[in-house]
Amino acid sequence: MIINLNTSMKKEEGVLIFLCLKSKPLDKYLQDINKNCKNYINKAIKIAKLEYNSNSCIDLILPQASKADRILLIGIDNNDLSASYKISKIGSFITSTLNNKKISQASIIINKEIFKDGTAAHLLYGISLNSYRFNKYFSEKKRYRNNYINKINFISENSISIKKHWTRLKAVQEGVFFTRDLVSEPSNNLTPQLLAMEAVKLRKIGLKVNVLEEKQLKKLKMGALLGVAQGSANKPFVVTLEWKGNKSNSYDYSFIGKGVTFDTGGISIKPSGGMEEMKYDMGGSAVVLGLMKALALGKSKVNVSAVIGLVENMPSGTAQRPGDVVTSMSGKTIEVINTDAEGRLVLADIVWYAQKKFRPKNLIDLATLTGAIIVSIGQEKAGMFSNDEKLASRLEECGKKTGELVWNMPIDDSYEKDIKSDIADMKNVGSGRGAGSTAGAIFIKRFVENVSWIHLDIAGVTWAKQDKPLIPKGGTGFGVRLLEELVNSN
Ligand code: BES
Ligand code: MN
Ligand code: ZN
Repeated sequence: MIINLNTSMKKEEGVLIFLCLKSKPLDKYLQDINKNCKNYINKAIKIAKLEYNSNSCIDLILPQASKADRILLIGIDNNDLSASYKISKIGSFITSTLNNKKISQASIIINKEIFKDGTAAHLLYGISLNSYRFNKYFSEKKRYRNNYINKINFISENSISIKKHWTRLKAVQEGVFFTRDLVSEPSNNLTPQLLAMEAVKLRKIGLKVNVLEEKQLKKLKMGALLGVAQGSANKPFVVTLEWKGNKSNSYDYSFIGKGVTFDTGGISIKPSGGMEEMKYDMGGSAVVLGLMKALALGKSKVNVSAVIGLVENMPSGTAQRPGDVVTSMSGKTIEVINTDAEGRLVLADIVWYAQKKFRPKNLIDLATLTGAIIVSIGQEKAGMFSNDEKLASRLEECGKKTGELVWNMPIDDSYEKDIKSDIADMKNVGSGRGAGSTAGAIFIKRFVENVSWIHLDIAGVTWAKQDKPLIPKGGTGFGVRLLEELVNSN
């Protein structure tokens, strides 16, 4: 989709879009049109009952010799103008509307008295986030899920300053699209090695990327991660990424991502119904990559590091067995009761490694960790587990601002006993008394030393079965916008 920002309208710029507010007079340009065609616009607004709820639109074909052929009027709720997420939802509505009408070119007229520059940029953000499509595997174009709208002209007297805001948002949008691409990719074409290569490609935008191969992982004694990988013919990889946005030597954040490129469950194999969904079990690592891309493209001023653990969880003659005991890099031993609780095994080693290597001030891990998080809070929010109330409430605020919501879940010491093992330091599942997501979180916590930490269980929010505002159905990219806000809003 081509996006142009202009100060004035040229001819032949497709359908004109006007955003109308209940309490405000019509835009000057629209008033002109209205006068020109004998109060037709005012009459249409009345008769078609334009609703000012940011969710309704009237579509007008203008009489001959008017200043435009076709205009769309969108009724905006005044209250929505003060919240950036709500504005981007309006943008998202514009995209859906244009697509439903199969319109390919449109010009949006922005009144600078009503739309602040940041606000206007968020409108554009919503328009573009909702234009994402994953069509690469259709051999016939007629099967594409089309995004008909391919050119948007944004017309405002303040277009130069809107452009400044848009530059940051555009970087985040590219990060989100990258994450969605990775999450959507089938596992035959996105093995641990291929995913590592996707990370390596980010070098060209200024990220430092380092790939650790199996030999190095053995040397580092990442026994928990290697245990998961040992059943697959596809070798494991761990990738680190660094973005240095300032001169200091310390890292403000380290982001950790679960990258199970396919999760069969291993010997504790999953039922076949719905198993195809487990292609997105690398969602955590995809969010980390999208986030790092967004930070680099947006030239963030913050120092950030990242570690992703890439493995495939397969049953085979070499796979680990239920009951096996593995030794993690930290030296702590783990009894693997269920080979399907593999994400926490991967995280155990990379969370530990990130702390040793980067000594970050804050450590945030993302993982499609448990089905139980969907049982407890559904698919509207990510589950958040933290050892630092302040950091957690900051992230909660970022959630409200971006619409990527997190919900604070319990992780106090009373749950520690759930993962007590009779023969090792811990076992990898809870004792079957519920709170399955907390059991996963408390397990990861065993590998967290003195650092502010958040674990985000994104199993419910990584994939959307239906379209949502800003999110066409499929891979959501949930977490990129949320964490970019956390990093850059300081
Ligand atoms: N990758 C799954 C969790 C998952 C479920 C992600 C649904 C996305 C959608 C994870 O590795 C897993 O299998 N978890 C088990 C844990 C159990 C064995 C303690 C689960 O949720 O059943
Ligand atoms: Mn699993
Ligand atoms: Zn998994």
